[in-house]
Amino acid sequence: MYFKLKVNFCLTLILFSVSIARAQDSAVLNQREHIKIDFDWRFALGHPYDTNKDFNNGTGYFSYLAKTGYGDGAAAPGFDDRAWRKVDLPHDWAVELGFDKRGSASHGFKAIGRHFPDSSVGWYRKKFNIPAADLGRHISIAFDGVFRNSIVWVNGHYLGTEPSGYNSFEYDISAYLNYGGDNVIAVRVDATMEEGWFYEGAGIYRHVWLNKTNPLHVASNGTFVTTQVSANTANVSVLATVKNDDIKARQFNIVQTIVDAQGDTITKSEVKDLNLMPFNSQEVNTGLTVADPKLWSIETPYLYKLITTVKENGAVVDIYKTTFGIRTIRFDANEGFFLNGKHVEIKGTDNHQDHAGVGTAMPDALQDFRISVLKSLGSNAYRCSHNPPTPELLDACDRMGMLVIDENREMGISSTQLNDLKRLIIRDRNHPSVIAWSIGNEEWGIENNVTGARIAITMQAFAKSIDSTRYTTAAFSGGVGSGISNVLEVMGYNYVANKNTDEHHKQYPNQFSWGTEEGSTVTTRGVYFDDSTAHRLMAYDRKQNNDFLSLENGWKYYAARPYLAGMCIWTGFDYRGEPTPFGWPSVESLFGMVDACGFLKDDAWYLRSWWADKPVVHLVPHWNWKGKEGQPIRVVVYSNCDEVELWLNGKSLGKKIMELNGHLEWQVAYKPGVLTATGYKNGVKTATDIVKTTGDPSTIALQANKPAINADKEDIALVTVNTNDKNGLQVPTAGNEITFSITGPGKIIGVGNGDNTSLEPDKYLERISTAPIGNLKEKAADSLANKAELAAEYDDSTWPNAFRNWRGEKQGMASKTMVYRGSFTLPGDESSATITYYYQSIGKIQSVYVNGNLVGANLPQSNDGNSFRLDPSWLHAGRNTIAIAAIPLTKVHSWDNINTNPGLVQLLYPAPAWKRKLFSGLAQVIVQSTGEAGEIVLTATSQDLKRGELIINASTTGLTAPGKK
Ligand code: GAL
Repeated sequence: MYFKLKVNFCLTLILFSVSIARAQDSAVLNQREHIKIDFDWRFALGHPYDTNKDFNNGTGYFSYLAKTGYGDGAAAPGFDDRAWRKVDLPHDWAVELGFDKRGSASHGFKAIGRHFPDSSVGWYRKKFNIPAADLGRHISIAFDGVFRNSIVWVNGHYLGTEPSGYNSFEYDISAYLNYGGDNVIAVRVDATMEEGWFYEGAGIYRHVWLNKTNPLHVASNGTFVTTQVSANTANVSVLATVKNDDIKARQFNIVQTIVDAQGDTITKSEVKDLNLMPFNSQEVNTGLTVADPKLWSIETPYLYKLITTVKENGAVVDIYKTTFGIRTIRFDANEGFFLNGKHVEIKGTDNHQDHAGVGTAMPDALQDFRISVLKSLGSNAYRCSHNPPTPELLDACDRMGMLVIDENREMGISSTQLNDLKRLIIRDRNHPSVIAWSIGNEEWGIENNVTGARIAITMQAFAKSIDSTRYTTAAFSGGVGSGISNVLEVMGYNYVANKNTDEHHKQYPNQFSWGTEEGSTVTTRGVYFDDSTAHRLMAYDRKQNNDFLSLENGWKYYAARPYLAGMCIWTGFDYRGEPTPFGWPSVESLFGMVDACGFLKDDAWYLRSWWADKPVVHLVPHWNWKGKEGQPIRVVVYSNCDEVELWLNGKSLGKKIMELNGHLEWQVAYKPGVLTATGYKNGVKTATDIVKTTGDPSTIALQANKPAINADKEDIALVTVNTNDKNGLQVPTAGNEITFSITGPGKIIGVGNGDNTSLEPDKYLERISTAPIGNLKEKAADSLANKAELAAEYDDSTWPNAFRNWRGEKQGMASKTMVYRGSFTLPGDESSATITYYYQSIGKIQSVYVNGNLVGANLPQSNDGNSFRLDPSWLHAGRNTIAIAAIPLTKVHSWDNINTNPGLVQLLYPAPAWKRKLFSGLAQVIVQSTGEAGEIVLTATSQDLKRGELIINASTTGLTAPGKK
């Protein structure tokens, strides 16, 4: 019996191998490909419960969970998505929506969520080709993150559901593919529910990849590089997980090679004669040594590459690359944090993952921009509050030298929750920037009790079991001395105003600690008087209320206590949602050191003074106070000079001595003119800031953060828009509405201005609406030729509904030709729209008429459908008729599906002109490459102002955009 079974099994394996191993051009099979598939998706809004509006998904006899391959409605491979919008990823549909008072304050009052079922579910579809030569490769589809509750099908096969909007996930699709032809991915995304209390976006807002490898390959995220530095050497230890997804055993060697930043090989090591049975995996340990290692640091973020090569019988079957850094990290309970043995004060910011104009759909270059803005403040640490970040953010931090606290979403110890933490750690553990895993944030229900303590102990030990080289922390808001505050490896204080950290440190002298949130100041950029009616809060630093410290007092508190490793400010950037202390119509938070565009608020200059190392003098406020002549204006100076002298119109208003980590203030009777602050170090004039009273706006000025971008459909330029007066002085108070147009190989993907109350659109897009063909009736006819039944107003009231009975061959013979009549309704506002009829064959041969006009004659059946641009003069508001004379489709079996849907009419309304008001003098336009090389010209116009024009070069050569790996 055993023998027979074994023989059968072997036989099956042999047959199976023969059938799937046809392809095998080893050059293809042995090449690893990591292909970004962000472009040319189709998108449409579905519905959480109205199946008609949800493209009839899940309505078939076998819905998607019943039998494999039966994904129906929009999940079916043949679904007609031609009328859906074309989109590229990353894509956030929430940011495209309008604002609505009934929306959630957490999500910035965008019209999404429970009250908005029509805009809370989104469908994505994409066709992609898989070459015949790929047969035999291991192919998977990997999502960096989809918000949220995504269901994925490939070619109608259900692959899985990922509830969280923050996890990266991957599905093996090798078995489902059509090799040598088209394939379809369908993704249903349900953003009805929130996961956080801040703006989270909606949709496939991170990259999607196709991964192709040999069935014997290094697993995804399958390497773990750790380093130990002693004297002038680094011992590099590599754990590589090799997977055999083949149906036969494989024998192989593993070669580990380390190359430096120039690509030169430094060291190599081989582990030989490894064996893997089918569907097994193995962790292979290799030790390597790097002499005179260049250490990764904040100032010089040096990166090495590990190249893992899998070899079989001398042939290379897989090459997997891992970027890593060599550095040491250490906390000390009394002295704080050390990087490479050097004390580093943590000067961090907390950040969410959205930006003006684009929401959570951030091009990679935007990650770089945001990190560079934070670095320019002297910040050296970034806390990913409160969720796993996109991998590209961590890549940017690795490249640019920014320490990272990588945060888990929700605390818990169920297998699902621990698995989420595990996925985060396994994905991110080679990033040198990551110094700590944060297991959670302000878990109010448990953080102060024994349940919280138990959960924290388990989660930390679990995290250590996967990566013992990083520290574990959590952000804690409660009263210290209980719950998780006593069990955290690195205690994370959220707001020390009401906490006695000295006492806590005395009680737990061996516990490491830092500030995971501090500051919480709420300020409006460029505004210097409170106006709660207008939801404006002055930009001078102060505490929000008695639960918080001001920025300055917060920093002084941390700077004075060596046992505290430093602090993270709530927040670096303003973000959508949480419009504290206001509600509607405020749609953004005001906590940032910079606004949602990255424009500096004055608090940012406080940080530049005490966090960065360049001499700083910064004057607050602007000097445009028409109507306040003679009245006292509060003048604040941020500086790291020893003394600062203030001058108004050439007259000294006195010199003051700067206190460490402080600021200086004067009350100055307003007189238009020139306010100057001069900073002295050791008695020598070191830095100056000047603000001048300006005239009214006269010209528009545009400035890009870089003169050229890569012509790669991804790279962006961030354009600052402002106005100048007739003397060329920038007007800090301007609020003009500016209209933008663009020519050349670029497009605008978002606009913003940092105004927390702006309800202007973030995007100006083409709009699509569709008119289904309804009331379909039928009647037998004797030919396809033009006849009375095809006329616009033919009376079909006595005709039966079409397709009531299935049409078999027999019946098909009896009625050789049919006339079908139906109608669609136009709203009456279509004068600007392009109107297209996307027809799907309901006959073997057919002629199609719209309001009696022949649009397609004798069309053969087509799986791809036909499309007809409709002449507006044929159409009118209200009911329009469709008539189709067809030789009908017939079924061979009763269970055959034949198409009974003659398609729909799409109305495509052109995008309105892009525009944005300036806020406190500034706005931002994000310009993205459309792929071709050439000159992109951005033009800005506004009534009574001289237009602005900016040229950005899109180049295919020589550039390395910061966002590129
Ligand atoms: C903290 C919380 C943050 C944010 C902030 C607003 O308690 O961790 O996510 O909500 O408050 O003040």
